[in-house]
Amino acid sequence: MGSDVVHDIIGVGFGPSNLALSIAVEEHNAGLTAADPRLEALFLERQPRFGWHRGMLIDDATMQVSFLKDLVTLRNPTSDYSFLCFLHERGRLIDFLNQKTLFPLRVEFHEYFEWAAARVAHLVAYGSEVTGVVPVRDGDGHVACFDVTSRDAAGTGPSVTRRARNISVAAGLEPHVPPGLELGDRVWHNSRLIPRAAELAAAGEPVRRIVVLGAGQSAAEAVDYLHRTFPDAEVCSVFTKYGYTPADDSPFANRIFDPEAVDVYFSAPSEVKQSLLDYHRSTNYSVVDMELIESLYATAYRQKVAGRERLRFLNISRIRDVEPGAGGLDVTVEYLPTGERQVLEADVLVLATGYRPRDLTALLGEAAKLCLRTDGDAVRVGRDHRVETVPEVSAGIYLQGATEHSHGLTSTLLSTVAVRAEEIHRSVLAGHGAG
Ligand code: FDA
Repeated sequence: MGSDVVHDIIGVGFGPSNLALSIAVEEHNAGLTAADPRLEALFLERQPRFGWHRGMLIDDATMQVSFLKDLVTLRNPTSDYSFLCFLHERGRLIDFLNQKTLFPLRVEFHEYFEWAAARVAHLVAYGSEVTGVVPVRDGDGHVACFDVTSRDAAGTGPSVTRRARNISVAAGLEPHVPPGLELGDRVWHNSRLIPRAAELAAAGEPVRRIVVLGAGQSAAEAVDYLHRTFPDAEVCSVFTKYGYTPADDSPFANRIFDPEAVDVYFSAPSEVKQSLLDYHRSTNYSVVDMELIESLYATAYRQKVAGRERLRFLNISRIRDVEPGAGGLDVTVEYLPTGERQVLEADVLVLATGYRPRDLTALLGEAAKLCLRTDGDAVRVGRDHRVETVPEVSAGIYLQGATEHSHGLTSTLLSTVAVRAEEIHRSVLAGHGAG
């Protein structure tokens, strides 16, 4: 055991979701009245320091959510952890306002997250990868706590075990690699785009061709970034659609990200849930900001006029094979309408093929066996984000991120992190002392 402390909450992962929760806890503890219990919380993060999708911090990429949906404002508009307070502290408030936008640069929002994370650093153990969660049973078999084991991310140091009445699992999604493809020196997932591109540029070898697979926002951003970064390279964008689909960020559709929409979705029958996901998929999945679509098209057209086409779009196409080749990789691409195949000699293949929820069973270990599941084998989660467990468990497992099936599209996004943090905070308080 690391210490004798029994924490009220141990967080698994410290991205924006658990960062928002840590601030809710910090504000709770700062404003205690005699009737309120103090909450002991600790968040375990495997990265050595705070980082939010660092591999995709492209210099000119902007947020796809309003800055008012920051870590706190929808929960507590007077919080001094808001994006506006951050801007004020950095002396940029008025300069930001003059831009007349709700959508800050991604790098700037990352800076905001880092600023907020630094203020709650006493609640975080970085370099701590959670490797298992074990139920602690009393003589009657009742589980009021979990032992959470972590090791340093290199896996070299001793493991540490800490005890908690509740855990908040917000470990994010993991990069998806389509079947038949494998990551390697020349095959990257876009989640590592910036460091891998920097390594390639530093190697000093001529880069002639890069193939990017995918048609979502990350794919389009990768195509644009690589095209700018390697001015002598041809960049081929391969996807099965006819063309990129624009993201629907229109006001009525955007209401699907309102806190109230989570209530509606949660209590809807499963066929209504499915139809909502299907109707509004284009707010988030496999879609691209219109401005970027137009800019890519304009660049490609300018090149056509100039007679030097460096940006190529291989639509209605699939990658059928990837083999080592004389120029690095031989990427076989099939044009689906005719079945015709061509082999592209490429230096690198970038898989912008999305993310999938992490395997909860692997993450939670023994504790996963206590979770109830739906007929479709999804974990059953209450409206308060607490996983439904077998009756002998009073300890809480809260889930953030991997709950699209129960809480809808905002689950993996930032839109409701502040409100969700409050819901979990209240639920933990309601159960405080239970068990
Ligand atoms: P997130 O993935 O951010 O954090 C999970 C953390 O858990 C990570 O730090 C990870 O290291 C850690 N972890 C995992 N396993 C662990 C273990 N076993 N032990 C300890 N730590 C562990 N959404 C949006 O609403 N607006 C936007 O503009 C964007 N933009 C955007 C850009 C890019 C490039 C991507 C890839 C995604 C977005 N998103 C987004 C969606 C994105 O999922 C969302 O912004 C947050 O990252 C979700 O925050 P979480 O904290 O839930 O997960």
